[in-house]
Amino acid sequence: MSQDRCNGWFRSAYLAFWVAALTVVMPAAGSTQIPEEFTNLKVLPDDIEQRQLMNAMRSFSRGLGVRCEYCHVGEPGQPLRTFDFASDEKEPKLKAREMMRMVRAINGEHLTNLSERSDPAIEVQCATCHHGQARPLTLQQALLESYANGGITGTVQEYRHLRERYFGTWTYDFGEQQLVGVAQQLGSRGSHEDGIAILELNLEFFPQSAVTVFTQGEIYLAQGDTAAAVTKYRASLELDPDNRAAQRRLSELGGV
Ligand code: HEC
Ligand code: HEC
Repeated sequence: MSQDRCNGWFRSAYLAFWVAALTVVMPAAGSTQIPEEFTNLKVLPDDIEQRQLMNAMRSFSRGLGVRCEYCHVGEPGQPLRTFDFASDEKEPKLKAREMMRMVRAINGEHLTNLSERSDPAIEVQCATCHHGQARPLTLQQALLESYANGGITGTVQEYRHLRERYFGTWTYDFGEQQLVGVAQQLGSRGSHEDGIAILELNLEFFPQSAVTVFTQGEIYLAQGDTAAAVTKYRASLELDPDNRAAQRRLSELGGV
């Protein structure tokens, strides 16, 4: 018996945990396509019903925005009965198992240690972090990764691509602040021109964004181009007359 397995009362509490945590999504019917009994469960209880297992698998798929074959051996588009679900050949399945243990530890150990819980308690699910993507990156992380790999051109392309594909879904936040955050990070690393370019991109989508124009001022200031900075601070004040940060900068620079 592996260390993941449980007995007695804990075991039924444990089964209830997975059923509650993973199967709230939908009361799915069983499937005639997959076996009734499972031969290679190391985290889920051996005697889990097919319907419960399928609910867990659907919540994995939905949480990560993937299909069964992302983790299991089988050909896309082929009937599920041709799949070898018990095989551990695919790396993502092994990672998913570790994730299941992690989620269980978060819900079963850490959250239960809180002095008070919400009622009903809020449990962490795959979707809490993954939001419909296999690699749970925030938009800023995704863009900084593109920047590391493909520089500014690759980053701008990636933003347009991600926006086209994911806008209006739950995967990324395309709000006004996101590219500002990326530009600030590029600016703080000394990549001033690229920071400015990212803010220009933001202005395509948020032409009235005072914080975007203000941040352009900040980058010009960091670059030592005070005149350009003052122009941007003024422009940002025009968009938002209450912008305190811009007022402060202008008075510091004597440019009011
Ligand atoms: C993100 C990865 C992931 C996705 C996507 C996924 N599974 Fe799984 N699946 C697993 C893991 C991990 C296990 C093993 C769980 C354990 O060890 O307790 C498993 C186990 C199974 C088993 C039991 C195999 C056995 O005999 O031990 C079946 C059947 C199964 N999955 C079907 C599906 C189906 C159908 C889909 C698509 C709707 C799917 N899975 C999607 C990760 C995944
Ligand atoms: C607390 C946040 C969190 C939760 C909850 C979580 N994951 Fe993850 N998961 C991550 C992070 C972070 C990574 C990326 C690790 C890395 O590559 O550095 C990851 C990576 C993965 C990967 C590998 C993806 C790839 O292709 O590289 C799989 C598969 C996965 N998670 C499945 C799951 C499943 C299934 C669940 C629910 C049982 C889950 N995760 C819950 C944070 C989480």
